[in-house]
Amino acid sequence: MDTYAVIGNPVTHSKSPFIHTRFAQQTGRIMRYIALSAPLDGFEQTVLDFRKEGGKGMNITVPFKFEAYALASRLTDRASAARAVNTFRFEEAGEILGDNTDGIGLVRDIEINLNFPLEGKQILLMGAGGAASGVILPLLQQHPGLLAIANRNPDKAVLLQQQFTGYGDIVAGHYQDFTGQHFDLIINATSASLHNALPPVPADLLHGTALAYDMLYSSRLTPFLEFAKAQGVTHLADGAGMLVEQAAESFSLWHGIHPETQPVIRQLRDELHCHAP
Ligand code: ATR
Repeated sequence: MDTYAVIGNPVTHSKSPFIHTRFAQQTGRIMRYIALSAPLDGFEQTVLDFRKEGGKGMNITVPFKFEAYALASRLTDRASAARAVNTFRFEEAGEILGDNTDGIGLVRDIEINLNFPLEGKQILLMGAGGAASGVILPLLQQHPGLLAIANRNPDKAVLLQQQFTGYGDIVAGHYQDFTGQHFDLIINATSASLHNALPPVPADLLHGTALAYDMLYSSRLTPFLEFAKAQGVTHLADGAGMLVEQAAESFSLWHGIHPETQPVIRQLRDELHCHAP
């Protein structure tokens, strides 16, 4: 049976096996999808062993997306621009194709599931790590009015700005640099929610914001979404939809068929509520 895996560290709480198993049921594919924990210094060996045993493809999660980028022998354009890889497809000829479906997953969740067109919008992206860099190109491809990147360490935001200059209107700096500006959409791509923390976003930045989006997901509101709600933002979304959408893009790369995401997003939300702390 064809086997796929999500590789990470830690990976036990990954919802990818849950999601891909449902996609397989929905599309009638016979496959196995497992969670594979790699030692922090053993990413490459774990990948190569998995492929040797017949693995067909992988999803890559924290903290290996940059190592996956380095290991891929061929890259899609979006993975190449992001300099990070979240999907491998092991090719017959021995090549490892590296793709990055995170950004398109975010865009599809916002534009299709949340019905929020990005064209012409003022967007603030918070964070300048791997999660942020993966979504910048697909966001710019929707032709927003402006994409601003804010980070505690502004130098990292400026590096990203330089990396993507030429793809669209993009500015970068510290959170305070954007005080007084209006944003239609604010996206949290920091890892602050993982530590139950709030990025230092000035409250006035959220005044008049139509949608607050946290790329992490949780059974309850993240600190950023709580904060946005307190500032009067009514449209709040976490990353559960993005997770299912990026998985659907990976599934499509492997199987040539794009599964229906809406029912799986609902199932994932039920699952998260069942296991809420
Ligand atoms: P990832 O691959 O998940 O993006 P990362 O590369 O470690 O992880 O990047 C984490 C991002 O979250 C960084 O932008 C980090 O800001 P700094 O570069 O200034 O460290 C941001 N981050 C983490 N905790 C944060 C917090 N409590 N408040 C604001 N930003 C935070």
